[in-house]
Amino acid sequence: MKNKIEILQSKIKEANLGGGNARIESQHKKGKLTARERIHFLMDDGSFEEIGMMVTHRSTDFGMEREKYLGDGVVTGYGTINGRLTYIFSQDFTVFGGSLSETHAEKICKIMEMAMKNGAPLIGLNDSGGARIQEGVVSLGGYADIFYRNVQASGVIPQLSAIMGPCAGGAVYSPAITDFILMVENTSYMFVTGPNVVKTVTHEIVTSEELGGANTHASKSGVTHFACANELEAINHVKKLLSYMPQNCEETPCSLPYEASDESRPYLNDLMPQNASQPYDIREIINTVADPESFLEVHAAYAENIVVGFARLAGRSIGIVANQPAFLAGVLDSNSSTKAARFVRFCDCFNIPLLVFEDVPGFLPGTDQEWNGIITNGAKLLYAFSEATVPRITVITRKAYGGAYDVMNSKHIGADMNYAWPSAEIAVMGAKGAAEIIFKREITGAENPEEKWIEKEKLYSDIFANPYRAAERGFIDEVIEPAQTRAKLIKAFKMLENKVVNMPRKKHGNIPL
Ligand code: HXC
Repeated sequence: MKNKIEILQSKIKEANLGGGNARIESQHKKGKLTARERIHFLMDDGSFEEIGMMVTHRSTDFGMEREKYLGDGVVTGYGTINGRLTYIFSQDFTVFGGSLSETHAEKICKIMEMAMKNGAPLIGLNDSGGARIQEGVVSLGGYADIFYRNVQASGVIPQLSAIMGPCAGGAVYSPAITDFILMVENTSYMFVTGPNVVKTVTHEIVTSEELGGANTHASKSGVTHFACANELEAINHVKKLLSYMPQNCEETPCSLPYEASDESRPYLNDLMPQNASQPYDIREIINTVADPESFLEVHAAYAENIVVGFARLAGRSIGIVANQPAFLAGVLDSNSSTKAARFVRFCDCFNIPLLVFEDVPGFLPGTDQEWNGIITNGAKLLYAFSEATVPRITVITRKAYGGAYDVMNSKHIGADMNYAWPSAEIAVMGAKGAAEIIFKREITGAENPEEKWIEKEKLYSDIFANPYRAAERGFIDEVIEPAQTRAKLIKAFKMLENKVVNMPRKKHGNIPL
């Protein structure tokens, strides 16, 4: 037995070395951690249990039978993060560049299935040169096996992808299907075709970082939700993100202990600018209303006219969607609609209540928006809110104009409680534009059209630039003093805790993609 145990120990030692010391050193020189080091920092101390450590590839072409590494380029297993069961795969770049072989894919699929059966989140740490070139089509099949399982798991368990190195070609589609992507600045990139192919086909000269680096995807494409300065920051973000989520779609997120105290926030009474066209940062309202330090913004650098993220209210996890008057006046456009729709759907999948702060002048006009499908994209947000069955509350802080009033979680599309601040203006459009249309004849026929216009603008504004017309109809449940917002929300979300909605039976809806 002693001898046999020694053989086992030597195999474990071999597997732990991945592609060997020289390649580990080269990985470190690039400023990257190894697959196992990443797991070490992510999972609770001593909690990780590896599965499939002895797996090797089955390839025999190109002399591959002579070059085998235990584990075959991916470390898979389970452990706990902040005490909660989590499954993980971590690609090992020191073994054939972390490339995906048939067996590498099988290991990932095995972990995905276990995560689904046992109802716990799946984390993928990606660092791979893509399909194992020596294996040809079996590698492509392996990718498709993973994509298929990503889709099966979608909405069942949270799936997070952290990109820690290359992720190119079709390989990008596994992270793309998962719920959140995190990337590391300067050491990770994602693209369907790399700089060389781009140069050949479109004659554009672009670096990997410009084409598909963390900041590019965080701000231009919106592919990644977080751009992190280094791997440890990415790992800490994964841990924080998970803390707002339940283990699976059957559970609710766990709450943090909370002691009731004075919930009034007098600061909010003085926050709104005098002039309704002056901007303010909606994050000030979010941070004042939510539990201190609890707001984690998602997609912060993309479509900044809408702010989305997780927070806690009296210890409970909530998802926040808020128009941002400090950017493009908080207007809704294609990108902000898509960004918010995806976030709303995530929260709804995983029983995370939704809080909306609304200050929206409408949809962004222009050929760019129309030709790029603002109709379809705006409909995504409308659809996402309408189908969401989690508790949903809206607070209108200022403008709620036009179709955007309907879309931003109005009562009409199923919101549970809608509050308005006294500064709310709820109308078909701004008073100036409205007056120009409905009083056109009187304005153009007046001795002083400019004066007439101002007079009519005031008339329209006096009637509609307030929350009371909507409150008379019951479209607003209560007009509240801003300082009382947090207290009202805590009570209302508690009241909605056991909300049940039965949707019509269907196979699945057809969100306008
Ligand atoms: C097999 C690979 C590999 C691959 C890298 N290696 N990519 N082995 N299959 N796809 C090996 C290298 O031979 C090398 O082995 C080691 O990994 C490290 O690679 P280097 O090139 O030395 O590293 P680096 O300079 O950092 O460059 C990394 C890289 C480059 C940019 C990823 O290796 C590269 O371009 N690889 C090919 C990428 C690619 O075209 N993949 C297929 C994409 S198509 P040694 O023994 O020297 O350590 C695809 C389709 C998926 O993935 C479809 C899904 C639907």
